[in-house]
Amino acid sequence: MSSTRFLTGITTSGTPHLGNYVGSIRPSVRHSLNPDVESFYFLADYHALIKIDEPARIQRSTLEIAASWLAAGLDPERVIFYRQSDVPEIPELTWLLTCVIGKGVLNRAHAYKAAVDKNISAGDDPDSDVSAGLFMYPVLMGADILMFNAHKVPVGRDQIQHIEMARDMAHSFNFRYGEHFVPPEAEIEEDVATLPGLDGRKMSKSYDNTIPLFAPRAQLKKLITGIVTDSSAPGEAKTVEGSALFQIYQAFATPEETTALRRAYADGIAWGDAKQLVFERIDREIAPMREAYLALLNDPAKIEAILLAGAARARQIATPFMGRLRSAVGLRDLRAQASSQAAKTAKVAKPAFKQYRERDGKFYFKLVDVDGRLLLQSTGFDSPREAGQSIALLQTQGASALPGLADKLQPNADVETQAVSTALQLMADAD
Ligand code: TRP
Repeated sequence: MSSTRFLTGITTSGTPHLGNYVGSIRPSVRHSLNPDVESFYFLADYHALIKIDEPARIQRSTLEIAASWLAAGLDPERVIFYRQSDVPEIPELTWLLTCVIGKGVLNRAHAYKAAVDKNISAGDDPDSDVSAGLFMYPVLMGADILMFNAHKVPVGRDQIQHIEMARDMAHSFNFRYGEHFVPPEAEIEEDVATLPGLDGRKMSKSYDNTIPLFAPRAQLKKLITGIVTDSSAPGEAKTVEGSALFQIYQAFATPEETTALRRAYADGIAWGDAKQLVFERIDREIAPMREAYLALLNDPAKIEAILLAGAARARQIATPFMGRLRSAVGLRDLRAQASSQAAKTAKVAKPAFKQYRERDGKFYFKLVDVDGRLLLQSTGFDSPREAGQSIALLQTQGASALPGLADKLQPNADVETQAVSTALQLMADAD
């Protein structure tokens, strides 16, 4: 698999606002058009349950966010677009990860710590009103990411810690059970603005200062008119620094348009006129999408079908991968166990290392499976001793020795690490 895999999720806990659009929806739709990336976009509805106990709101938000993504141009044929709760392997993986992540790591998660600190300063029990779901939030998020072995996760700065925890889970699991997970990386978009809200603080549901992405034209205009400004009069020069209105404009405008508004500020444009300009500019970008959005909201069956088709594609990856992970941790078909026992007693075929010398005078080894399938093939060594050392590493460390031996092994794309790991384990068990 050569392409980079991107994955991102939005929690279905509210109505998308301009800040979500600029910070997440718009850049992710742009990313999805890049032919070199394979993208996964999902509605994090299990995450929403952590914050919201109103079923109708979860359902409504799921519909609205899905419709927003599609209206903004996400093409469900090009990307894998699904609802988290349609992929039962994700909560299943959550449990496996729960068992490898330290509780202490989760104690340090920002959101959990903030809740605890607040309780302590209020003189309450530290865990008062903190659900175990909030505590486990990073593990569920780790499962979202590791389920599809995403390389890059585009997120805001506030989510970096979660990605680091996902890396931690990947390493801990790989260390115990062999190389199964790719440690993901956060992709911080430096040029993506964090939009200020109506009151000048960061636009956020929690500050109640948002502008809904698809507010009707009249409401959009009214909300923009309500953005805080200073009290400078028409004709008086205005500064762009700290102007929420200017920052919002900038997120939609071209560099030339932004320069023009900067000049207008210096020339003393009246706030009313500036707001009209900002409104027109935003509406120009949003209006065509708004129409598509409203049409989609009126056709929930269509969205449901798109999401179910996306989940089916996601599960084509998740189901077999989860099968391998179950086997890796020992949740196995008992007959497989029985046959490895049989191998022990009856000395029937087991995987084996074969060492040999080629015509080029070099020494080689290979690892073949019970059925004779070639699992590993070394490059040429100058001496049998060197070949033997590599074999010994594999025998003692199992599949975790593979990355270190990468330049001594010939690539074999047809064989999964898991097969190698299982073979090495079988040999170790048999000895
Ligand atoms: N925690 C993210 C947020 O609140 C949503 C989310 C859930 C997510 N799972 C994810 C984001 C996996 C990226 C990858 O915005």
